[in-house]
Amino acid sequence: MPLNFHTIKKDFPIFTTHKKLVYLDNAATTQKPSAVINALAHHYRTANANIKRGIYGLSEDATEAYEEARWKVAQFCGTPCARQIIFTKNTTEAINLVAHSFTRAHCKRGDEILLTVMEHHSNIVPWQMIAKERGLKLRFVNITKTGELDMRDLKSKITSRTKLCAVTHVSNVLGTINPIAELVTLLHARGIPVLVDGAQAIGHIPVHVEKLGCDFYVFSGHKMFAPTGIGALYIHQKYLETLPPFQSGGDMVLSVTERGATFQDAPERFEAGTPPIEAAVALGVAADYISKLGVMNIRQHEITLTAYALRKLARIPGITLFGPKKAQQKTGVISFAFNTIHPHDLASLLDEKNIAIRAGHHCAMPLHRSLGVTASARASFSIYNTKKDVDALCAALVTITDALHI
Ligand SMILES: Cc1ncc(COP(=O)(O)O)c(C=O)c1O
Repeated sequence: MPLNFHTIKKDFPIFTTHKKLVYLDNAATTQKPSAVINALAHHYRTANANIKRGIYGLSEDATEAYEEARWKVAQFCGTPCARQIIFTKNTTEAINLVAHSFTRAHCKRGDEILLTVMEHHSNIVPWQMIAKERGLKLRFVNITKTGELDMRDLKSKITSRTKLCAVTHVSNVLGTINPIAELVTLLHARGIPVLVDGAQAIGHIPVHVEKLGCDFYVFSGHKMFAPTGIGALYIHQKYLETLPPFQSGGDMVLSVTERGATFQDAPERFEAGTPPIEAAVALGVAADYISKLGVMNIRQHEITLTAYALRKLARIPGITLFGPKKAQQKTGVISFAFNTIHPHDLASLLDEKNIAIRAGHHCAMPLHRSLGVTASARASFSIYNTKKDVDALCAALVTITDALHI
């Protein structure tokens, strides 16, 4: 059943308190539905205790809610095994976890990690730091003129020392959907594991980690209607029990003496300290919310909206659109330059008209450098956006041009 995306807006209280808001910064973070907001309060009201420690009913309830959320997230992203889901703070922490644990177990000085210029800084800087520490080399795959991964360049950058490829599923600037399954097949044939940064994919396009075949998949809750402070890392069985812990402390140990410690199995081995319990529970609720709408319905809505926006924006004089020009090839993330107006100025002018877009380098400086610009303006869609929002953006851009006599 096609969903009514006009009524969906009512699920999000922010649009009641900010009636005129045209929110087009969903790639940064999404708004939260009542179901998620209520889940946080409900958890605190009915099940708040620390998990896995208390030998009393309330603690057991909290543990159960936390583990049920893990199970929901596992189902949501395509693995039947909840143990393969590690709760993290966000995408960034999940990548740091893999960067540290994987390289400690599998890399020697001189080994190489394959990245792409399309990556968010979260999937570059952790690797740079670990590369410096361990004497590793980073290689970067270029993009084509149309904003896709250059597969020929990728093949040419693989060497006998390549130990891992870390690549984004969807570009947070261009919206490009990368061919992950194809990429995994290509890299696995050469014995190279793949980490996929799913921060911009989850909740927008179907994600099934087992079908993708990747070794690690990471994402943030706050970009899929859940609270901040919670994210997830999927680890393939192959690495689940063999990777060393990243952070250490309480809850991830079996026993501790003055001389050392032994560690729990996954997922506890990777979850040191008290986790954001209520946020994990709310992430499970967000996954339910998306599943109920149907991720294919969401995708279809975003394709329709993106196609409309690309068509309409392209007709405005002075616009340069970056990335794929066909909505089918991308998610609802549209970055652009507008005349000679700096994106920051443009965002401020749009804010005066209650339109929230993102401006700057979007934590993707290497990508902007390869596009030949230092910054861009970005509009990004979610399920509560409609053609009216696109119309408001386009009308505002035209008004700004007129006002500035460009
Ligand atoms: C593709 C991509 N990767 C990683 C991140 C980092 O996400 P977080 O700040 O939630 O860790 C983002 C955030 O915008 C992103 O778009």
